[in-house]
Amino acid sequence: MAALEGKVAFVTGAGSGIGRACAVRLAQEGADVGVSDIDLAGAEETAGLVQGAGRKAHVTQCNVASQKQVEESIAATVEALGRLDLCVANAGIARAGTVLELPLKEWQDQLDVNLTGVFLTVQAAARRMVEQGDGGRIVCMASLAAENTGPLSWGYAATKAGVRMMVRGWAGELGPLGITVNAIGPGLIETPLARPLGGDAGSKVRERAVRGIPLRRIGQPEDVAGMVAFLCGPDASYVTGSYLLVDGGLRDAASGWSPDDPNDPRVAEFARYLQDAGTRNEKLQPLIDER
Ligand SMILES: NC(=O)c1ccc[n+]([C@@H]2O[C@H](COP(=O)([O-])OP(=O)(O)OC[C@H]3O[C@@H](n4cnc5c(N)ncnc54)[C@H](O)[C@@H]3O)[C@@H](O)[C@H]2O)c1
Repeated sequence: MAALEGKVAFVTGAGSGIGRACAVRLAQEGADVGVSDIDLAGAEETAGLVQGAGRKAHVTQCNVASQKQVEESIAATVEALGRLDLCVANAGIARAGTVLELPLKEWQDQLDVNLTGVFLTVQAAARRMVEQGDGGRIVCMASLAAENTGPLSWGYAATKAGVRMMVRGWAGELGPLGITVNAIGPGLIETPLARPLGGDAGSKVRERAVRGIPLRRIGQPEDVAGMVAFLCGPDASYVTGSYLLVDGGLRDAASGWSPDDPNDPRVAEFARYLQDAGTRNEKLQPLIDER
């Protein structure tokens, strides 16, 4: 029997990228899926993929920033698919800008979708799970940006750090009710949202991005979906309140250059510094050895 046979999942932002991959993967694991997105055409396409995996799909058009739409979307999913066991609060947007220029509207939109949208989704889903009385699994899409930020991306990062912290609080509230809640921190994943950072295959932007990632590739939505399947599956029954990175090692390589990049003029300089350090170490070594 498939691991998630008999379960019903609800995925927001399921009409593209990571959300679509999550919907398909959960279906492959045996779940029927409520496919929700503000983009109806994208959601319908995903629903076709879920059905192609042999499971039921129910499409709802829903803006996660609207409490009414989220509640109606979850109610319609339960009505159509019978129950709710798994929820992936994935929908998100990115609005980049400097503190001098970012319009209030863009700041507010980002908060409303990335932070309030996750709150509204989790609240409505958790209430339904509590009503059913037999637990549940909730996964929220944070980001590596929950812990790394910089110019232009600080607003997005603030929303994702918020998701990470909300999840920690919710784990304490929902754990006694048998519901786990975890956050995922994707690094650079190949989706329309991340195109400005990851570029297209063969582009200079792509080449540079890949060089900065220890595993030397841009992540695929399926990489994140695999973690979602784990968190929704039997092996994660004792995991809650966690923030799990799926970033190819990017977090700790984020200095922006790699010592094995032959085109980077800093490489030769770096090698000289290393050599000087070696000479200095040789001098000090006898003193260190005296113990
Ligand atoms: N791609 C990455 O590198 C990356 C990295 C870290 C985190 N993330 C996060 O992963 C999640 C999915 O992003 P993605 O990369 O798949 O992007 P994407 O743009 O491919 O997909 C996002 C989906 O969310 C939907 N959406 C946008 N606003 C919505 C709203 N108000 N209500 C409902 N749906 C809405 C879009 O229509 C789209 O289908 C986001 O939360 C994003 O912040 C992505």
